[in-house]
Amino acid sequence: MSDRDDDDNKDKLRSAEWFGRQDSYGFIYRSWMKNQGHTADMFQGKPVIGICNTWSELTPCNGHLRMLADHVRRGVYAAGGFPLEFPVTSLGESNMRPTTMLFRNLVSMDVEASIRSNPLDGVVLLVGCDKTTPASLMGAASVDLPTILVSGGPMLSGRWKGRQIGSGTDVIRFKEAVRAGEMSVDEFMSAEAAMSRSAGSCMTMGTASTMASLCEGLGIALPENGAIPAVDARRQALAFEAGRRAVAMVREKQRMSDVLTRAAFLNAVRLNAALGGSTNAVVHLLALAGRLGVQFTLDDFDAAGRDIPCLANLMPSGKYLMEDFFHAGGVPAVLAEISDRLDLSATTVTGRTLGAVIGGAEVHDRDVIFPLDTPFKPAGGIAVLRGNLAPDGAVIKPSAATENLMVHRGRALVFDGPDDLKARIEDPDLDVDETTVLVLRNCGPKGYPGMAEIGNLPIPRVMLEKGVLDMVRISDARMSGTAYGTVVLHVAPEAAAGGPLALVETGDMIELDVPGRRLHLDIAEDELERRRARLAPFVSPYGRGWERLYVEHVQQADTGADLDFLVGGSGDYVPRVSH
Ligand code: FES
Ligand code: MG
Repeated sequence: MSDRDDDDNKDKLRSAEWFGRQDSYGFIYRSWMKNQGHTADMFQGKPVIGICNTWSELTPCNGHLRMLADHVRRGVYAAGGFPLEFPVTSLGESNMRPTTMLFRNLVSMDVEASIRSNPLDGVVLLVGCDKTTPASLMGAASVDLPTILVSGGPMLSGRWKGRQIGSGTDVIRFKEAVRAGEMSVDEFMSAEAAMSRSAGSCMTMGTASTMASLCEGLGIALPENGAIPAVDARRQALAFEAGRRAVAMVREKQRMSDVLTRAAFLNAVRLNAALGGSTNAVVHLLALAGRLGVQFTLDDFDAAGRDIPCLANLMPSGKYLMEDFFHAGGVPAVLAEISDRLDLSATTVTGRTLGAVIGGAEVHDRDVIFPLDTPFKPAGGIAVLRGNLAPDGAVIKPSAATENLMVHRGRALVFDGPDDLKARIEDPDLDVDETTVLVLRNCGPKGYPGMAEIGNLPIPRVMLEKGVLDMVRISDARMSGTAYGTVVLHVAPEAAAGGPLALVETGDMIELDVPGRRLHLDIAEDELERRRARLAPFVSPYGRGWERLYVEHVQQADTGADLDFLVGGSGDYVPRVSH
């Protein structure tokens, strides 16, 4: 499989297997590189740093990443390395259908193959929009070269009619306001340009900002990676520094797996709680840990984050945006605030420990970042629920939920999928009241397919008209990191995998007990068995292509929804020659 003898070549660069050869292969590798104007001394014997770029004009959040790649490139040159930028498939939340999550694992394969098959010694991952971060990390982890991540950064704060508006979060608010007749369609459309006014990703603490921030907690990105605005010159300086560090990491032989340890994952979970971060972090961190063989489970999410309150007053849990967060001290300040709950000895890509990295960090605005002893919201973290309705678990984000619904018993109203939901949710005669529990199924990894972000299903029109703004909702779907509500997500196993969610009938009583971590369907066991016997098996409509491979191999949300055959890694072996 490999042309490299590791024992004899401990200090030899991986790229020397290409550029250091005296044979016809070496001729080919070098000669073709020279057609781009590179001289041999630029790349021979130098750490070759791949700049793995998820830039795409179809991913607006990543539209500025080629510019940022130039700053990485400068840093690599400044440190005596040789940078090579390459594209991988990009995933843009705003445009892609049916959901980017269907393609996260596909992109991870692209990233893994692109890195391993090429003359690379180290990698800088350039990411931004939600799934580009986990997809790139997962693929790179399965190769495990020295790797550092750079995010594109959040957009500037949205501003409309004299107030701040946040990506995603205010789209949901505006949509509900239009439905309730409180906002005109003209006003609705005038907010579009005001919301997305600069390069960058969603500027709420949605999934993109959550993942970019957690990368600081994981130690896989430089300090400040999470919050520097996309268009702030300090973002370019961070990219420059990442290029420089990537070269040093190759020389220091600091692999991804040296950084992404169990301690790093637990630190990230604690940080996520303090940030009121996205529920999507659950499936992404679990899948990433799976690639690295790190012992880290859904229950760690609950246990490690449970005693950490939400400190960050950021949308969707609070009112501020990423630009405010950056000026308030950003992720290093939050990490410093919870430092006695962290493993400060964890290694980071800076070459220093997490403790050393956050050493001098301070909070500059106490209305944005609250102190640990008087937090913004008492319940941070992500609660993991279990019970006969979710034997393998389900999640809820208490900081985005309604306090008085956290313990609730109500009658189920079941929607069989997105089409059924769409057909009935506006029905003026829908049999529903404020205690009803809305259940949506067939929206999990296999069912949708791709586990779409539709778990925060809209409040029925009849309830909106009564002024009801939140109801308990349960599904096997995900929810956008910018969304909010008393929403139970990621029910596992999903309905399409034969989970008990498939057996619920309208009128059944459901009990939610978030403090008790319980989700219970109040139906006798023998009745459930009768229903199970009648249940028709799920048949995917996808007979070919990626969708078929995905549905056949995707695992459930409780382990991160990776494909079964992608779990783990294959290392950085040098594949055999091509001719
Ligand atoms: Fe790209 Fe939100 S749509 S980060
Ligand atoms: Mg999102």
